[in-house]
Amino acid sequence: MPRVPTPVACVPVNPSFHRRASKTLFHTAAVCAAALYTVAAHAQLVEPTELVDQQHCMFCHTSDAPFLAPSFHQIAERYRDKPNANVMLEDKLRHGGKAHWGDMAMPLPADRGGPLSAEDARTLVQWVLSQ
Ligand code: HEC
Repeated sequence: MPRVPTPVACVPVNPSFHRRASKTLFHTAAVCAAALYTVAAHAQLVEPTELVDQQHCMFCHTSDAPFLAPSFHQIAERYRDKPNANVMLEDKLRHGGKAHWGDMAMPLPADRGGPLSAEDARTLVQWVLSQ
């Protein structure tokens, strides 16, 4: 019987896959999506929905219309070509910092829904800057 070559798929290879199934699957999906879209400039990354909900980002932000806070499009536009902006934004998401858009600063993670790890802050900032 002829063997049909299996297409190279985005399969999770993490050995701790079973313990961290949902997280690993999520990261795998995000990585696959990023890989698929690398050819298109500014392709938007997959929304990390679980994190966004847990931290209530959409309570104040929308993707494209300024609301209680600048839209994620505005933020991406402002920082897209600034080197190291992601580092500053990750730190700000986790520890706060001075307001860059107006008088209202962003609440700290504890007031948004719980502590935010460095890894999760990075995921969120990359997603915001891809919009
Ligand atoms: C209670 C409202 C509120 C929530 C919830 C909120 N934000 Fe914000 N966000 C703001 C405001 C207000 C600003 C503008 C602050 C400033 O002037 O720097 C802002 C600014 C930002 C900026 C730009 C910061 C800068 O220095 O330019 C980023 C990135 C951002 N928010 C991402 C997020 C993400 C991701 C989440 C969810 C984890 C989130 N925000 C949740 C209100 C909020």
